[in-house]
Amino acid sequence: MGNWKMNGSLAGNATLLAGLRASTPSPDNCDVAVCPPFPYLAQAVDALRDTTITVGAQNLSQHGEGAYTGEVSGSMLADVGCVWVLVGHSERRTYHAETDQLVAHKAAAALQAGLTPVVCIGETLAEQEAGQTLGVVARQLAPILAMGNDAVSKMVIAYEPVWAIGTGRTATPEQAQEVHAAIRASLASVGAEDVRILYGGSVNASNAQQLFSMEDIDGALVGGASLKADEFLRIVAA
Ligand code: PGA
Repeated sequence: MGNWKMNGSLAGNATLLAGLRASTPSPDNCDVAVCPPFPYLAQAVDALRDTTITVGAQNLSQHGEGAYTGEVSGSMLADVGCVWVLVGHSERRTYHAETDQLVAHKAAAALQAGLTPVVCIGETLAEQEAGQTLGVVARQLAPILAMGNDAVSKMVIAYEPVWAIGTGRTATPEQAQEVHAAIRASLASVGAEDVRILYGGSVNASNAQQLFSMEDIDGALVGGASLKADEFLRIVAA
């Protein structure tokens, strides 16, 4: 899943999307998706219409509709053709004060709209250095798990250590696997051990294969490397 973040333009996206279309992967055993900024969702849906690549948004409102200026609802995202939506990305948690509880409300709003929420969790560098990784991830997951099996089994989890995002410093496959296994065990406590767990943080065409070879790493949430069609497609191939 490519997370374009706040990057792109009509013209630039057209080139990127054409590059993705040109060699659309045939993923028998995986889903491929891109998450452009809101104004470009319809452009991406249109450009990828008859391909196997699907489209997600990067955020949604926890509310269904109404007087929430500047917000975008899950039903609007579904209406324009999104099937996924990121919730609780660390940049939302950091710059927009999204709490664990709010993230769970947003995940619920996504499910309500028929979207698959991709719930992002992960510890900061300070938390990692203090040995708090598993505790932080458990705290972030708690309100999600409290939603119960019916809800959780329809989600995707993305583990993104904040210190690895956009830094070029990827978690080692073993480091990531350890956290993924812990997340899997938490999911199992509500009978949702089959939920897919993506790794995110400086994934690129050179390190993807090794990460994907780990037992509990089911895919990737890719930022920077998703902005180049050939690099993103090489990650998909991996
Ligand atoms: P990055 O971003 O691949 O550029 O590190 C990942 C993300 O924030 O989803």
